[in-house]
Amino acid sequence: TDKRSYSIAVIAGDGIGKEVMPEGVRALEAASAAFGFQLDLKWHEFSSCDYYLKHGQMMPDDWKQQIGPVDAIFFGAVGWPETVPDHISLWQSILQFRREYDQYVNLRPVRLMPGVPCPLAGREPGDIDFWVVRENTEGEYSSVGGHMFPGTDREIVIQETVMTRLGVDRVLRYAFDLASKRERKHVTSATKSNGIAITMPFWDSRVEAIAAEYAGVSHDKYHIDILAAQFVMNPQRFDVVVASNLFGDILSDLGPACTGTIGVAPSANINPEGAFPSLFEPVHGSAPDIAGQGIANPVGQIWSAAMMLEHLGETAAAASVLAAIEETLVSANGRTRDLKGNASTEECGKAVASLIA
Ligand code: NAI
Ligand code: MG
Repeated sequence: TDKRSYSIAVIAGDGIGKEVMPEGVRALEAASAAFGFQLDLKWHEFSSCDYYLKHGQMMPDDWKQQIGPVDAIFFGAVGWPETVPDHISLWQSILQFRREYDQYVNLRPVRLMPGVPCPLAGREPGDIDFWVVRENTEGEYSSVGGHMFPGTDREIVIQETVMTRLGVDRVLRYAFDLASKRERKHVTSATKSNGIAITMPFWDSRVEAIAAEYAGVSHDKYHIDILAAQFVMNPQRFDVVVASNLFGDILSDLGPACTGTIGVAPSANINPEGAFPSLFEPVHGSAPDIAGQGIANPVGQIWSAAMMLEHLGETAAAASVLAAIEETLVSANGRTRDLKGNASTEECGKAVASLIA
C-alpha cells in the first residue's frame, strides 16, 4: 500500500507570522490524523528579520539545499521595517522563492465567508466564489528598458512589457484546467487590447488558441477597467479570472478586498509541473502593530494550508479544512477581534482544528 506522505518546509518569518503559523500547522496535523496521510515538517529560521540581524542576510547562501526537495513550502509573513528595510527583507526572501522556483501562477480565492462583513451591499456567503489567476513571472514587470539623460530636459524612461508564448500559454492552461474542474467551467480573461495594442491582442489570441483545447470550458474577456468595476458590481459573474502580471496584481488585491478582511485571505505561488516546490502563504504581512498580542487572525494561514492540501492532491482534507473555517467563523467565540469576535489567535486555531474530520 502506498502511504501518502509529504515533506514541507515551514517558514514562519516575522511578527504575526510566528503567531499564525502554529495554527496553520495545527490544522495540517489535524487533517493528517483525520485523513491518514503523513507529514514531514521541517521548520526554518531563515527568511526572517531575526535571522538577518544575526547573519547580515535574510537567508543562508545554501538556502535551496537546506530547503531540499520538499513537496511544498508553508510560509507565514516576512518584514520588520523598524530594523530591516522592506526592500531588503522582501527581496532577499519571498521574492527569491517566487523567482528561483519558477512559481509562475499566483492564485487567490475570492470567496465570501460567513462571519466576515462584506463591503459590497446585499451579498451573502455563497454569492461570491471565484479564483484570480495571475501570471507571476513576466509581462509588465520586466527589467527590459532604460533611463537616459536623467535630470535633464531630455530625460527618457522606457520599460517594456515582455510576453512570451510559453509564459502566456502556461498560465492560460492553468486557468482553463482549474475551470474545467469547477462546476461553472468558465474563464474570464483580463485584457486591454483597445489601448495596449501589441501585447494585449497577442494575449487575446493565445486565449482563443488555448480555449480551443478545452471544449467543455466557456470563456469571455473584459477590458481591465470595466472588469475592475464588474468585480464590485457583479462579482457573482466570475468563476476563474486570468490576467497578466500587472492586471493580476491589481485584481488579486481587489477581489479579496471585495469579500472582506485581510486577515482571512490566502494565496499560493505555484509551479504547476512540480519541477519546483510551490509556496502557500496568507496575503497579509507581519502586522507589527498587533504582533506579540496573540490577537492576529490565523484564518489566512489556515486557509493557505487548505490550498496546500488541495495542491498536494489531498482534496477531501482541503475541503474539510475549509468547512471547519466556515463553521468557526459563524460564531463570535471562534472569530478573532478583527472580525468582532472574542477568540485569541490560538482559540480560533484550536476551534478550526477540532472541526477537521
Ligand atoms: P500587514 O498586512 O502586515 O498589516 C496591514 C493591517 O492589517 C495592519 O493594521 C494589521 O494589523 C492588519 N492585519 C494584517 N493581518 C492581520 C491578521 N491576520 N489579523 C488581524 N489583523 C491583521 O501590512 P503592512 O502593515 O503594510 O506590512 C507590515 C510588514 O509586512 C512590512 O514589513 C511589509 O513589507 C510586510 N509584508 C509582507 C508580506 C509577505 O510576507 N508576503 C505581504 C505584505 C506585507
Ligand atoms: Mg499586490
